[in-house]
Amino acid sequence: MKSTSARIPDVSRRFDSVGFSEIVQVRNRVMGLLAAGHEVHRFEGGEPYMTTPETIKRAMESALARNQTRYAPSSGIPELRSAILAKVRTKNRIPADEESPIVVNGGMQGLFAAFSTLLDPGDEVLMFSPYWTPVTDLITWSGAVPVLVPTERARERGISATLARSVTPRTKVLYWNSPNNPTGDVFSRREIEEVCAFVAGSGLAIISDEAYEDLIYEGEPHVSPASLPGMPERTISVFTLSKSYSMTGWRAGYVIAPERYQSPIRTAVLYSTNGVSTPTQWAAVEALSMRPEFLEEWKAGYRRRRDQLADGLRAAGFEVETPRAALYLFPKIPASLGTDSRAAAAMLLDTARVATVPGLVFGPEGEGHLRFSFSVPEETIAAGVASLKRVRSPLATSGVRSPLAT
Ligand SMILES: Cc1ncc(COP(=O)(O)O)c(C=O)c1O
Repeated sequence: MKSTSARIPDVSRRFDSVGFSEIVQVRNRVMGLLAAGHEVHRFEGGEPYMTTPETIKRAMESALARNQTRYAPSSGIPELRSAILAKVRTKNRIPADEESPIVVNGGMQGLFAAFSTLLDPGDEVLMFSPYWTPVTDLITWSGAVPVLVPTERARERGISATLARSVTPRTKVLYWNSPNNPTGDVFSRREIEEVCAFVAGSGLAIISDEAYEDLIYEGEPHVSPASLPGMPERTISVFTLSKSYSMTGWRAGYVIAPERYQSPIRTAVLYSTNGVSTPTQWAAVEALSMRPEFLEEWKAGYRRRRDQLADGLRAAGFEVETPRAALYLFPKIPASLGTDSRAAAAMLLDTARVATVPGLVFGPEGEGHLRFSFSVPEETIAAGVASLKRVRSPLATSGVRSPLAT
């Protein structure tokens, strides 16, 4: 036999421009500190603070006992798809057709399938910034280009006018995330109507990421873009059970898409995971049948934590706007710490053992901020805030300029 070439093939060029979440890198540093025996006050995560409801766990046990362990249709079991259909028609007011629900492995796979369905190399995607970090990578995975639209500037100068300045002949999609990670901001109905009118008038599609639809604590309720006139045929709505039901590790979500996009989304799911695990789907049926009242208790817990952390951070020198949704505070870094969010996050981890995510990770508009999750035990909030104040006060009283003194 002839000797084989020593050449080893390169990794696909697709990965050249696709990053790996910096939030994971923060988590790895925290793990290192914990392994070395340090106490760390952890605010870097993004998970509900409570455990999955018992009835959901029991539904999975029952599915296992009934041997519901075989392949399911890759777009979802009929029982789950009809529960999803009823939910989106009544709660989200989306006029979804019978075939539209597609079950996916969490919001991440839903977004992956949606971007894969719509994007060709060179296409451009408008997205407000700050944004949830993986989205730009999901877009570049398809060879497309994220075009950032600063949310604050758009509000100051007019949303449609600002979007119009970013549109080119290659623009195809607008990615939409309200309530927003990382800011906890919710766009008003008037703003959503303006964005949808712009999208429709420009011949674009919208990918609507509604991961935090249930976690709004005050003010106007959630509005799904696909519920507005003329929008269902150009909207792919992505939902997840992760945040609403404390099911982050189960990997369950669903996509609602108009007819022309259903087949490619199903194909993307088929050839990536061939569906969601069958027992998990039975647990999801139970989740969707839960009475909405259970969420009110959880939301009271979130509100309490949000306010406790916001007050504590203010007392420690941060400028905090209290958000009305999601799981995060996104305060400005105190002036004495500078505006480099990576340096500030590293400094807080080293000195106060407080873990946060640098705002820059959420786009250039996030620079100068840190993301703190308030979905943590109340003791963590108390201990973390005390640690931030401790870092501040000994230095302040010794006449040395404290890193946190403003
Ligand atoms: C804005 C946003 N969209 C989607 C997701 C995806 O969540 P999952 O894949 O757990 O459903 C997350 C998770 O943090 C998120 O913050």
